[in-house]
Amino acid sequence: MRVIERKAAMRACTRDWRCQAERVGFVPTMGNLHRGHLELVDRLAPQVDRLVVSIFVNPLQFGPEEDYDAYPRTLESDLTALDGRGVDVVFAPTAREMYPGAEPPWTGIDVPALSQTLCGESRPGHFAGVAMVVAKLLNIVEPDCAAFGCKDYQQLQVVRRVVADLDLPVDIQAVPTVRESDGLALSSRNAYLDAEQRRRAPALYATLQVLAEQVARAGAEQPDGLAGLEAAARQRLLDSGFDAVDYVAVRRCDDLAPPRGGERRVVCLAAAWLGGARLIDNLVVERAAVD
Ligand code: PAJ
Repeated sequence: MRVIERKAAMRACTRDWRCQAERVGFVPTMGNLHRGHLELVDRLAPQVDRLVVSIFVNPLQFGPEEDYDAYPRTLESDLTALDGRGVDVVFAPTAREMYPGAEPPWTGIDVPALSQTLCGESRPGHFAGVAMVVAKLLNIVEPDCAAFGCKDYQQLQVVRRVVADLDLPVDIQAVPTVRESDGLALSSRNAYLDAEQRRRAPALYATLQVLAEQVARAGAEQPDGLAGLEAAARQRLLDSGFDAVDYVAVRRCDDLAPPRGGERRVVCLAAAWLGGARLIDNLVVERAAVD
């Protein structure tokens, strides 16, 4: 497994592989790898001839008050975790290598409808930063396919949109969320939880499960009825010891707009705070008996 820091070397490497008709897979990450990230790697490995994992904490997707400086950087243990999993190259550029100018890039990639709702409301600029770095990474690595986790559902939809709208020649694969045995979705930010907060954290997924069940049963109801279910779920999170709730929402699966009534599949999403940790999760629901 080779570690590459320079864009030019990374591009030369994958171009070489493609000249030999080898299929290239790509898993973008910010490092501090856990079983969730490794699941993406394990899903792609058997489908490709060559596999690249990027590790880059992208400054562009963190707000000024967010945890960019504190975000765990654990390259050595990440390399150990990736060892033996079929990874050919770890692309680990510096921020200066990715963004050479003194200022942020002049160009932006905007996906307004998807980026301004849900997490985008409390994290302005976040998805523009994600869209930018993902587009750059896809242009540098030029993979045939790339894996993203369903855990970050809104991010997955933003990436799908960018790839479709910019005609990027890559197949985006969605990988189901990997969870702890008590339901908590694995996340690097779980490390911010103390023992008491960790005990409360599974209530996020449990609340989404209750909401999903209610939404599935309320299949034929008008969309107005969803507001009451969302409000009850929000209250349930506060009662379970969450300190604040950014949102609990039932949305359409592809464009994340509020359901009109009639959709067969919708997604329940939530973001809530336990102390200094902001946790997110989601659950897709098949609704029965829609009109
Ligand atoms: P990061 O949070 O490191 O996540 C990298 C990838 O792992 C994302 O596609 C994310 O959805 C997936 N992932 C994280 N936890 C998961 C879990 N419990 N189960 C399944 N997949 C999981 O997401 C980012 O980095 C960045 O925004 C990035 C796309 C790399 C752009 O900077």
